[in-house]
Amino acid sequence: MEFKIPSLLFVLVFALFTLAWHNPGLPPGEFETCLDLPGAPFNYANIQLPAHLRLPNVEDADNTPAGNPVTDAGATLGRVLFYDTRLSANQTIACASCHKHELAFTDEAPLSTGFEGGLTGRNSMSLAMARYYQNGHFFWDERAATLEEQTLMPIQDQTEMGLSLEELESRLANTEYYPPLFEDAFDSPEITSNKVALALSQFVRSMVSYQSRYDQARQTAPPGPPGAAPWPDFTPEENLGKALFFDPNRGNCAACHGTEAFIAPGPRNNGLDLVSEDEGLGGVNGNPQDIGLFKVPSLRNVELTAPYMHDGRFEQLSEVIDHYDNGVQPHPNLSPQLRANGPNGPPRRLNLSPAERQALVAFLETLTDESFLADERWADPFCETMVSTTTPVRQDNWVVFPNPATDWVHLRLDLPSDQEYQLFLFNANGQLLKEYTFTGKQFSLQRDGLPAGLYHLLLISEQGQWRKPLVIQ
Ligand code: HEC
Ligand code: HEC
Repeated sequence: MEFKIPSLLFVLVFALFTLAWHNPGLPPGEFETCLDLPGAPFNYANIQLPAHLRLPNVEDADNTPAGNPVTDAGATLGRVLFYDTRLSANQTIACASCHKHELAFTDEAPLSTGFEGGLTGRNSMSLAMARYYQNGHFFWDERAATLEEQTLMPIQDQTEMGLSLEELESRLANTEYYPPLFEDAFDSPEITSNKVALALSQFVRSMVSYQSRYDQARQTAPPGPPGAAPWPDFTPEENLGKALFFDPNRGNCAACHGTEAFIAPGPRNNGLDLVSEDEGLGGVNGNPQDIGLFKVPSLRNVELTAPYMHDGRFEQLSEVIDHYDNGVQPHPNLSPQLRANGPNGPPRRLNLSPAERQALVAFLETLTDESFLADERWADPFCETMVSTTTPVRQDNWVVFPNPATDWVHLRLDLPSDQEYQLFLFNANGQLLKEYTFTGKQFSLQRDGLPAGLYHLLLISEQGQWRKPLVIQ
């Protein structure tokens, strides 16, 4: 069933502290949070992937269950849930607080901060390519058997979001915007935590990164496995890094970070420590051979997912390369791909030259996907709007000219010149685009690429606040 969004904009009033959080420095109550969704849902279900991401070794690793395929409406609901702070007990934290779009859905901290300031036990994980982890288990120690099971765990986690499923359901049911989104996704407006799990999982599985420089160069390269020959669209350094990455006798990275998803089918030990303080998978299943085994993360967008490893111990990729070059520890469960002289041998040493180390980093950086990071499909759907119920005050003590404007807009104020003014620019939907602070009786702002259309200016001073429409031609 299609749900028609009347104005593309749901307006919902949040508690004042939420406003203050979104808008530090603004007088509370001037803004409402709104939801800016496309009239027809974005395409999540049929993303056109390049041929190398449709190879059998990638497609066969897809952990999407038959009962929860990605749909456009389901992933749209998942997107709203993912960015909604209502999912945490005190409404301060969303999934996106620890999984940031601009950082390929991880965060910059070794350990992440939960809703009451507590720290998580491990480093946040990048979510791109989560769907291609073949055994379908989630978390560093694989304690979640499926993604559908995983997605409700952070919500209930006492450090992360601290919300019970009953409270979750009643909170979402008490909004204007969720019942129609659930109806759209699941043909009934009834809100259950199971549907929350399904929708969040769809959104996470939709996060496929496929437009990096690696992908572009791959498509113009001669056919064959990626490690075989230099690619015309790579620099010599990137080609050297690529060769090292795929060569079984050198970097051998692809033996674990494999397929074009750069991910393993299951957990491994990469010799970070001689003795595992964090037992990883072994700590979950009690199996001694699994102590120190952790999920092998996809390396797509790895340039942005620092700090690295389950405990965030490495700040830079160069430190990771040093680890694989000469730092691998003889852990009893060290995976054979990192041993010399057979499956029980000592840790291998790569003896990479400085140029080779740099080349490996240069190759890893080709996996950064700017399109994925800028794609609205995965961006925050929440916006801010002016409260529409207040009547604008008419006044003549400030002039905006020229109006209609082309390149520059000037303000002249017949107001005290010794105080600070805040100026806000909104689009016709009431979405906040820019804010400025100035003193004096004049101010000018540049068009700065804004498309032609109707805008609103809001001027705030100690005396009060005033709005004016602005037309840009
Ligand atoms: C307070 C920070 C925080 C919040 C909030 C949070 N996460 Fe996480 N997320 C983490 C950390 C840390 C890990 C790794 C934990 C571990 O392995 O023990 C993780 C792991 C994951 C994984 C596993 C990825 C993989 O490849 O195994 C998924 C999926 C995930 N989070 C999704 C979500 C969703 C969906 C939400 C919102 C409902 C959410 N997270 C909220 C910090 C957070
Ligand atoms: C034996 C399998 C294996 C091999 C071979 C391997 N890795 Fe890893 N890699 C892992 C595992 C397991 C982790 C996560 C370990 C942890 O956090 O405990 C990891 C983590 C990483 C990370 C950190 C990712 C993140 O988001 O935190 C990078 C970067 C990385 N590996 C790069 C490489 C490079 C480059 C090579 C080749 C020189 C390589 N790996 C070879 C198994 C392997």
